[in-house]
Amino acid sequence: MRHLMNPLDFSTEELDDLFRLADDILLHEERYAHRCDGKILATCFYEPSTRTRLSFESAMLKLGGQVLGFASADSSSAAKGESVSDTIRIISCYADICAIRHPKEGAALVAAQKSRIPVINAGDGGHQHPTQTLTDLMTIHALKGQFSDMTIGLCGDLKFGRTVHSLIEALKRYANVHFIFISPEELRIPGYIREDVLERGHIPFEEVRRLEDVMPKLDILYMTRVQRERFFNEEDYVRLKDYYILNREKMALAKQDMMVLHPLPRVNEISVEVDTDPRAKYFEQVQYGVYVRMALILTLLELI
Ligand code: CP
Repeated sequence: MRHLMNPLDFSTEELDDLFRLADDILLHEERYAHRCDGKILATCFYEPSTRTRLSFESAMLKLGGQVLGFASADSSSAAKGESVSDTIRIISCYADICAIRHPKEGAALVAAQKSRIPVINAGDGGHQHPTQTLTDLMTIHALKGQFSDMTIGLCGDLKFGRTVHSLIEALKRYANVHFIFISPEELRIPGYIREDVLERGHIPFEEVRRLEDVMPKLDILYMTRVQRERFFNEEDYVRLKDYYILNREKMALAKQDMMVLHPLPRVNEISVEVDTDPRAKYFEQVQYGVYVRMALILTLLELI
């Protein structure tokens, strides 16, 4: 039995297989409409979500399976004090596969250790969000056709943004990837990513504050929101939340084939005027997330 906790749980060859499968599903969705007949996906979300939970549910329904679950800790027995370990034992009796989101780092791993069914980390605190990374990679694969030889700017809350941490882990494995981290001092990438992942792996990167200065160099700009829910005080959040706002003026500095991604939700960091720029791909990104999650469910359930 296999779980997905971290993007590194899949080799680059396995990722290629996953994206090939997602491509085939995209082209021939009808062929997959009954692959999960009789199977149940549980979505156990202890934190709010629109995309991740609903795209998992959409993915399972499109595969012919069924879904059950809870959308907040308050609507589950977590509110009565039940542990994640006990909950996953219960869910293992009801479902064939489980996607779990939890505000505590490592909660998905705790669940996986006690589970009798495959567990997918759908976001654990400020740590990892591997299926967002699959979505991001699927979008890059579909629209750029390569992962290597690129300069990738990651902008915003790089400290708490788990999608950023997962994407760095995944992309560091490809040749000639250069990272530019764009953030205020307080929201720089965590030390463990800088030292253990990048420096130890001899991955080239730079850290800057001004987005304008690096826009012309970028092949991909990955924008992120400031993660209000992970701040210790509201004052710091208010001070930092509008530090970056991507607008038409800044887009004018970028290459014509640069691509803007964002895991969403967007708050204020991308002006709506950018949405009509052909380089803005964040809404297409959402659609790829369904196909890649369909491919992931089939892979973990060994139904391919
Ligand atoms: N990208 C993402 O994780 O969105 P949700 O929080 O809406 O699931």
